[in-house]
Amino acid sequence: MEPFQYHDGQLHAEKVPVAELARRFGTPLYVYSRAMLEAQYRAFADAFGDHPHQVCYAVKANSNLAVLNVLARLGAGFDIVSEGELERVLRAGGDPAKVVFSGVGKTASEMATALRAGIHCFNVESAAELEVLNRTAGELGLRAPVSIRVNPDVDAQTHPYISTGLKDNKFGVDIAVAPALYRHAATLAHIEILGVDCHIGSQLTTLAPFEDAAGRVMALIDTLRQDGITLRHVDLGGGLGVRYRDENPSSPGDYVRALLQQVPADLAVHIEPGRAIAANAGLFVTEVLYLKPADHKNFAIIDGAMNDMIRPSLYDAWQDIVPVAPRSSASQVWDVVGPVCETGDFLGKDRELALEPGDLLAMRSAGAYGFVMASNYNTRNRPAEVMVDGDRAHVVRARETYEDQLRLESLLP
Ligand code: LLP
Repeated sequence: MEPFQYHDGQLHAEKVPVAELARRFGTPLYVYSRAMLEAQYRAFADAFGDHPHQVCYAVKANSNLAVLNVLARLGAGFDIVSEGELERVLRAGGDPAKVVFSGVGKTASEMATALRAGIHCFNVESAAELEVLNRTAGELGLRAPVSIRVNPDVDAQTHPYISTGLKDNKFGVDIAVAPALYRHAATLAHIEILGVDCHIGSQLTTLAPFEDAAGRVMALIDTLRQDGITLRHVDLGGGLGVRYRDENPSSPGDYVRALLQQVPADLAVHIEPGRAIAANAGLFVTEVLYLKPADHKNFAIIDGAMNDMIRPSLYDAWQDIVPVAPRSSASQVWDVVGPVCETGDFLGKDRELALEPGDLLAMRSAGAYGFVMASNYNTRNRPAEVMVDGDRAHVVRARETYEDQLRLESLLP
């Protein structure tokens, strides 16, 4: 489905004109589509058919409480990487028994909170972490359910900052040494071995690296079985890409079916998609403040900036920028930039647009790694977030105020 379409010359979010949202809630503004979030979640979940599974939405992609709640209502599990994300999942009505906890730097205190909450599984990323988890669970008189994140050393062929399954990356345990760590884990009194996991990177557009990784993880499972260690689930991580420009990523259904090819029918499969659920369920809406044409370059200065949406600045990521109400006048080529005092503050370069000051622009595919990566750089208030549901729009995060920003600061006595 495509939740953001033009009707009568106006971009709509589901049934609501985006211009109306901008008028009501101001800009810069994040706009999410409930229907798209649900459709993408279901595309993953339904493809499993009868195969035992859990889709654990990667909270980091978009952790707004309303987003989590919409998914929780569909039965989603959640992949968290901090105590803060656990807090969000619980407040959004998520089931702790469907939560997996990833991340290389879990603190003992975070582990204790997650153990008390009764999460499904810790995705353990190192031998040292396993020791701390065993001790922490012991102190609470509990056993910690674990999976060991293995690094299958496959090249995900994506941006180096978001490639995670290579030997050089900080994530997981070398798959070659994993059997020894599992044998050790089996001797620990407060550890219960449940599964194995991997996550090889993000924004992958082909299935081959996923299949490759899954094959290597299945071989590990066979080795472990020979050692008398039987696993109950395999978690194959997230990472399925989306179309930002001209990519042709596999569909969630094809992706799930490709994974299932590698896994026996009785072994439960977990996945941790984030971007593929949220990215194309979101728009980032801004207003053109000034046009600054020059001989060699035209700048369109908008009210949104790198602090609101950092992907272009950080990864040189390309995301489509479209007019909310297209003009019929001649277009020109613009660099679309924000008010932040950095040359790297751009949302898009060399974009062909017909623009006037006061026009609204919408950046597409902004539902994942958008608001969650926003900052207050330049003491800018972070944008409001709105979720559209059919013909209704709900504020799911109010626009920040200076009071919100300054509340925690104080002067010297
Ligand atoms: N599971 C683990 C353990 C992860 O580290 C990640 C993402 C995911 C699941 C979800 O991956 P996804 O399905 O969303 O690709 N900020 C970057 C993306 C960083 C992804 C980090 N890990 C961006 O804007 O492209």
